[in-house]
Amino acid sequence: SQPWNRYRLPQTLAPESYNVTLRPYLTPNEQGLYIFTGSSTVRFTCNEPTDVIIIHSKQLSYTTTEEHRVVLRGVGGAQPPDIDRTELVELTQYLVVHLKGPLEAGSLYEMDTKFQGELADDLAGFYRSEYMDGDVRKVLATTQMAPSDARKSFPCFDEPSMKASFNITLIHPRDLTALSNMQPRGPSVPLPEDANWSITEFESTPVMSTYLLVFIVSEFTYVESKSPNDVLIRIWARPSATAEGHGSYALNVTGPILSFFAGHYDTPYPLDKSDQIALPDFNAGAMENWGLVTYRETSLLFDPLSSSSSNKERVVTVIAHELAHQWFGNLVTVAWWNDLWLNEGFASYVEYLGADYAEPTWNLKDLIVVNDVYPVMAVDALASSHPLRTPADEVNTPAQINEMFDSIAYNKGASVLRMLSDFLTEELFKKGLASYLHAFSYQSTTYLDLWEHLQKAVDNQTAIRLPATVRTIMDRWILQMGFPLITVDTKTGDISQQHFLLDPDPNVTRPSEFNYLWIVPISSIRNGTQQEEYWLQGEAKNQSELFRTTGDEWVLLNLNVTGYYQVNYDEDNWSKIQTQLQTDLAQKVPVTLALNNTLFLSGETEYIPWQAALSSLSYFQLMFDRTEVYGPMQKYLQKQVKPLFEYFQATTSNWTQLCPLNLPLCLNHRPGWREGVGLAWEQFRNATLVNEADKLRTGLACSTQVWILNRYLSYTLNPDLIRKQDATSTIISIANNVVGQTLAWDFIQSNWRKLFLDYGGGSFSFSNLIRGVTRRFSTEYELKQLEKFQADNSDIGFGSGTRALEQALEKTQSNIKWVNENKDEVLRWFTEHTD
Ligand code: BES
Ligand code: ZN
Repeated sequence: SQPWNRYRLPQTLAPESYNVTLRPYLTPNEQGLYIFTGSSTVRFTCNEPTDVIIIHSKQLSYTTTEEHRVVLRGVGGAQPPDIDRTELVELTQYLVVHLKGPLEAGSLYEMDTKFQGELADDLAGFYRSEYMDGDVRKVLATTQMAPSDARKSFPCFDEPSMKASFNITLIHPRDLTALSNMQPRGPSVPLPEDANWSITEFESTPVMSTYLLVFIVSEFTYVESKSPNDVLIRIWARPSATAEGHGSYALNVTGPILSFFAGHYDTPYPLDKSDQIALPDFNAGAMENWGLVTYRETSLLFDPLSSSSSNKERVVTVIAHELAHQWFGNLVTVAWWNDLWLNEGFASYVEYLGADYAEPTWNLKDLIVVNDVYPVMAVDALASSHPLRTPADEVNTPAQINEMFDSIAYNKGASVLRMLSDFLTEELFKKGLASYLHAFSYQSTTYLDLWEHLQKAVDNQTAIRLPATVRTIMDRWILQMGFPLITVDTKTGDISQQHFLLDPDPNVTRPSEFNYLWIVPISSIRNGTQQEEYWLQGEAKNQSELFRTTGDEWVLLNLNVTGYYQVNYDEDNWSKIQTQLQTDLAQKVPVTLALNNTLFLSGETEYIPWQAALSSLSYFQLMFDRTEVYGPMQKYLQKQVKPLFEYFQATTSNWTQLCPLNLPLCLNHRPGWREGVGLAWEQFRNATLVNEADKLRTGLACSTQVWILNRYLSYTLNPDLIRKQDATSTIISIANNVVGQTLAWDFIQSNWRKLFLDYGGGSFSFSNLIRGVTRRFSTEYELKQLEKFQADNSDIGFGSGTRALEQALEKTQSNIKWVNENKDEVLRWFTEHTD
């Protein structure tokens, strides 16, 4: 096949720098379209002789005639070949320039283009966002380049390892502000031919990846401060939000977080300013663009008067996550998207460290267990899970790239990096990390480069001894899916491992070169006293005195759940440690044992055990809220949850956590349920505070009226009523409601095509959507429907939701089995414990 029919760029050319000028029009043209125009010069070196220039370009039209689309020059005496013809290849998103002769290895060239694109409301590339300021509709232009839409704003070599320096110029309405990764070179100057427009030229960027670029034109205002090491910090938002002080919290925590990471990485912040901006329309939660991080409003703004403490916690952790990327990801970048897990997993781990530094009294570090480790184990226990690292050649198309952004990459990535840091000790981990960052600044890497630098740190000391190299240990966690179940018999001290699968004999399992064995670091305590670390390897039964008990003694393994594995004990030891358990709902544990663990909850006011227990109880809820178990279960939960609910109310803490449980208790306290739906909808439409609007949007999904839920579902496909950024999450909240479940599923089935085509089926929220609407599936009938859905749409497919669909099928099968096996016993248990 020809190189322009392949999704990966050839290695023949390497960009060095770009000069890019873009001009967004914030009012529609005669055809009613919003557009931007642009021009670009890219300077590149030729590595190997070639007679074709292949550069990414998506949905751009070139304003000149086909023959004159591009101008090619030699630099430093190089002779450019003549251009034969140019073509646009839609499938692989290329502009292809066929030459009459070859470019020469070692020579430098420059290519000019002029182009135009649509400034659509599609949340991708250079796009527009709208909001109301009182009665006035305002339009702004902004970007979301990651992972592969920089090519939608100008022609570029759009792969992360094709780093270059960028000179950006924005032409914009005179009264608006232009922002980009860097500071302006000087004050904006009027456009000579039209004084209503200004030109803002930015300083050259350091050598960087295209996916981290950002251009914004808006009327936004900011609050600012200086970090201890003199970095300018600004928080940008709609003028009214800034005026009301909603950027203050973000401003307060950014300085400490930046200093924390500069210390943690032993590397100064690489730029001279750090801007962060809250956008009214934004697809993800936030994006780490170098020097100008973009957020959805709820991830950055905080209103002390109306936001809840969970909103605040969200803000500080998202900021920490994105700022962590300013070094890990932006300064040093993984060469290709198959290693995305390292980038996102790392940021998802250290976000807890950065946020904890800014809010030391909140115990944020413990939350990783309930937010990341346990939830991802539920996915990773499926036979349709996948290894953290995907081979590079299996990731080519934009949909395949988007599919990388899943909970395995984020949460398992965070979990295994935390485990690694724990067994190396944080001190050693930091040494290796700093050495990796120093060695690869402004370059790109694979995960092996990090292992190598960590190994060097290990080799340079003697206190920490490992049973094998960092690479040998980590390969087993990275290259094979799943995790081990560690079984301990405290009578004999026997300890062994086996691959933990939700369904112990699934139809298909992926073979593993490591036979589903791991090298497992095992921490333990005996009667409250910590014991030395033990390494479990291989299949054979191992035995250790560390795990043998006598009399009333008990042992507990995997302290603070720093290890990415589950533990099962003999029944005797289980009952001894029961009240100290956080959670464990393995099938291998008798189901009533798991329920017994929830008995202590009514006296518990700590967040962590509650969160852990609630997430396992919510599985019971999902499986049984359409069965006869519902009544007794609900009664039990109310009894158990009531004290906590009252406690949370008293402390105005975040009771929305309890809502998946559908407690009537909560219903009464939420706006928009049952009766007041019309009112809540009005409040939602008029809410100027996004946190408030988001609560109402979720609350609306809790109506018990079928017609209201159906109408609400139809609203999700109308961007004038529900912003595109909120469509999938609104459908998911409707599906979370037991009444809305089937309605949402019917809705997805009949509207799949529209959703997929208009709402970016390639974007990563589609896997959430599929997971969200199928969470309760636990009958043969639902399994059949799901299979039919898969078959019916095989022509357009499921884009980035492909894997999620496979997982939903498997999960449904295992739910069917689990319900069959446990329903009677669970019903009996709940009935007994409510009388
Ligand atoms: N790099 C991602 C944002 C992103 C996601 C870009 C998918 C392109 C495609 C960013 O660092 C991120 O991970 N954001 C998270 C929030 C974070 C706190 C986990 C998000 O957007 O959900
Ligand atoms: Zn991230």
